[in-house]
Amino acid sequence: MKIDLKILKNKVQKEIDSVKDLKELTEVFKKYLGKKGILTEILGSLKKLPRVEKVKVGKEANQLKNFLRIKLDQKVIEIKEKARKEAEEQERIDFSAPGKKPILGHLHPLTEVKKKTEEIFQAMGFSIVRGPQIENEWYNFDGLNIPKDHPARDLWDTFWLEPESSKLLLRTHTTPVDVRYMEKNNPPLRIITIDRCFRHEATDASHEINFYQIDGLQVEKNISVANFKATIQEFFQRFFDKPVKIRMRPSYFPFTEPSFEIDMLCLNCGGKGCSVCQNTGWMEMLGAGMVHPNVLKNSGLNPKNWQGWAFGMGFERLTMMKYKIDDIRLFYSGDLRFLKQF
Ligand code: DAH
Repeated sequence: MKIDLKILKNKVQKEIDSVKDLKELTEVFKKYLGKKGILTEILGSLKKLPRVEKVKVGKEANQLKNFLRIKLDQKVIEIKEKARKEAEEQERIDFSAPGKKPILGHLHPLTEVKKKTEEIFQAMGFSIVRGPQIENEWYNFDGLNIPKDHPARDLWDTFWLEPESSKLLLRTHTTPVDVRYMEKNNPPLRIITIDRCFRHEATDASHEINFYQIDGLQVEKNISVANFKATIQEFFQRFFDKPVKIRMRPSYFPFTEPSFEIDMLCLNCGGKGCSVCQNTGWMEMLGAGMVHPNVLKNSGLNPKNWQGWAFGMGFERLTMMKYKIDDIRLFYSGDLRFLKQF
């Protein structure tokens, strides 16, 4: 019995040493000290022994039991400490490790170009103004010399708002801002507005139902087309950062008289003809003209005293030229592969 207990002690010691977690340790506990555990059974069988042996073996068996208890308790502490250290190690911040770069957003290309355009015009003495996106029929059409039933209204496919009797609509262009501004401000004045417009039309690579338009206006006592031409040429030069050549073609807009369109010598081929300018050597840029006397009157100005020029240009188109983008729909696609290029 004496030898047995010694061997048992060594065995138990080894088993406890090789235990890796609390689950295994519980098994060891059960094996020796559980209800049917080896040591429990030894202690249980003591009563069958003769008295002298009982005292001796009993003492050794109880010593082994205490030894086991202490060993098991120590092991529990050891296992828990190890687990705590491991968790700590995982949470530890390594200040010397290279940092993760945060993903930074940036402004949308249209916003960038809008800012740049506004800066250029501001430097030439223009104020940046805004008007409502929901307009009424007067400012979007009548005030701009486009009476009801006039065929010119068909140039603008319009989103009308309900009820029809409200005569409210999503503005089809930013030109109404000119009338609103002239009503409230005394000339001489120079303004530009770059803002959102809406048209009820099919979309394709150069048309969107929702787009931006830049509208510019200058009203003075004495001002001419020559002044407009110089201003817009200066703008393009600063915008594209190189000398540009422009030409004027007669055109028609109800709110200007005379009206014309501005073309720019193709920046891509210098006028030789390429796919960008459809082999014409010129790029169509914008519509413009001298403000129609009726529009001045509608805005509360006397056309005998005041003259003005105005222009309007698709703002996405300008941005597309700057960055060589071939489809207007990309601006509104929310596609990060597109946006991350800027
Ligand atoms: N608003 C016009 C359009 O949507 C563009 C335009 C042309 C605006 C001539 C003007 C202008 O102010 O003078 O087609």
